[in-house]
Amino acid sequence: MNILLIGSGGREHALALSLHKSDNENKIYCNPGNPGTTQIAENVNFDINDEKLLINFCRDNRVNLVVVGPEQPLADGIADTLRQNNINCFGPSKYASQLESSKSFAKEFMDEFDIPTAKYKTFEAKDISDCGRYIDKSDMPIVIKADGLAGGKGVYITDNKEEAKKIVEDFFEGKFGEASKKIVIEQYLDGVEASIFAICDGSDFVLLPASQDYKRAKDGDLGLNTGGMGSFSPTPFVNDAIIKKVREKIVKQVLLGMKSRKNSFVGCLFVGIMIVENEPYVIEFNVRFGDPETQSVLSLIDGNLANLFFTAARGAIEKSSISIKNEKFACTVILASDGYPENFNKGFEIKGLQNNSSLKDKYIFHAGTKVENDKIVNNGGRVLGITAVASTLKEAKENAYNLAEGIHFENKYYRRDIADSAIK
Ligand code: AMP
Ligand code: GLY
Repeated sequence: MNILLIGSGGREHALALSLHKSDNENKIYCNPGNPGTTQIAENVNFDINDEKLLINFCRDNRVNLVVVGPEQPLADGIADTLRQNNINCFGPSKYASQLESSKSFAKEFMDEFDIPTAKYKTFEAKDISDCGRYIDKSDMPIVIKADGLAGGKGVYITDNKEEAKKIVEDFFEGKFGEASKKIVIEQYLDGVEASIFAICDGSDFVLLPASQDYKRAKDGDLGLNTGGMGSFSPTPFVNDAIIKKVREKIVKQVLLGMKSRKNSFVGCLFVGIMIVENEPYVIEFNVRFGDPETQSVLSLIDGNLANLFFTAARGAIEKSSISIKNEKFACTVILASDGYPENFNKGFEIKGLQNNSSLKDKYIFHAGTKVENDKIVNNGGRVLGITAVASTLKEAKENAYNLAEGIHFENKYYRRDIADSAIK
């Protein structure tokens, strides 16, 4: 199979590796990819927003399947463009992608299809006085969310009413541009968080093992929100009863709802839940794989992921394409550039890297790296994801940290407590 994978992060390196392992004969193109994906794929670089270039590339290279990593191209309608040109795409339409690209759309959709979520209200800049009165009457803490895509940074939680009003003002003044001209104010849910990926073909789906990510920069969940500093899977906080509720009350309802709106959901539905008193509530939908959850989750999967995506994209998912490793756990530690998510230096040589083909049950996933004068250097906030798979979570954690400690660059920074919340 010839596959075009869109994206450049650790998630895409993990996806590329799984698509490659599905069948060594698979030819994978990654646009733009990173120095890690070149181990198993051919990196290409053309403007995916240029419809003609995209379609011609797929035709010239007989691409059977396009897999989209990040949310922006989906929100821009890449899946619609591909399908209109009879090219298989694992990723939802622009309309269905609003589950991620508009929080108010997602909330209204959940209301209509009875999907459990926190109580909320939507406001626009013209409603600022109503919004102030609403905050005055609300129980604290409350959650304030920019409606549009804000790179995971558009959510604030506060227990101070005056601060809440200040955040709202900043949002309406364009803190996140158009994305925060509309906001959702949500009831705070106190519980345990988990991420669950559903691989969907429009009508049917497969759930992958539940995972948890660590969003804050510092140990003990302190510091600023980041794109994710580590993950583990499966999470013991998601038991069979919760999985059943996620299936019945959430994923099935999304598929029915999207079908009834003539936009069958094809792709990875990322269900971010908060578990409160054994009930899962949706705190966010994403319409693509999560990063860095994917690095852990895909390490637990055997079989032919490429065929799973291909058959899902064709509307008839072959669930038996994959199997989940029994009694195995995965842990991923992100090696970041010190200072991330704010200011950090780039261009330091990374030493101690290995090719994944020489590692067993361990993986080094590239994210913010680049080749400079024949050396691999750090080139982003999140530089590498180090994943290990073992029979216990404790062992997976130890193995990931052992490998992480052997990799060096001048401003390497990482959390020391990934997976501890589930080990202790
Ligand atoms: P989101 O981008 O919507 O996932 O929100 C980012 C983070 O904010 C989530 O991972 C949660 O930790 C937190 N969060 C979002 N919504 C809520 C909520 N209703 N109650 C408590 N925490 C929330
Ligand atoms: N790890 C959360 C996300 O990818 O949005």
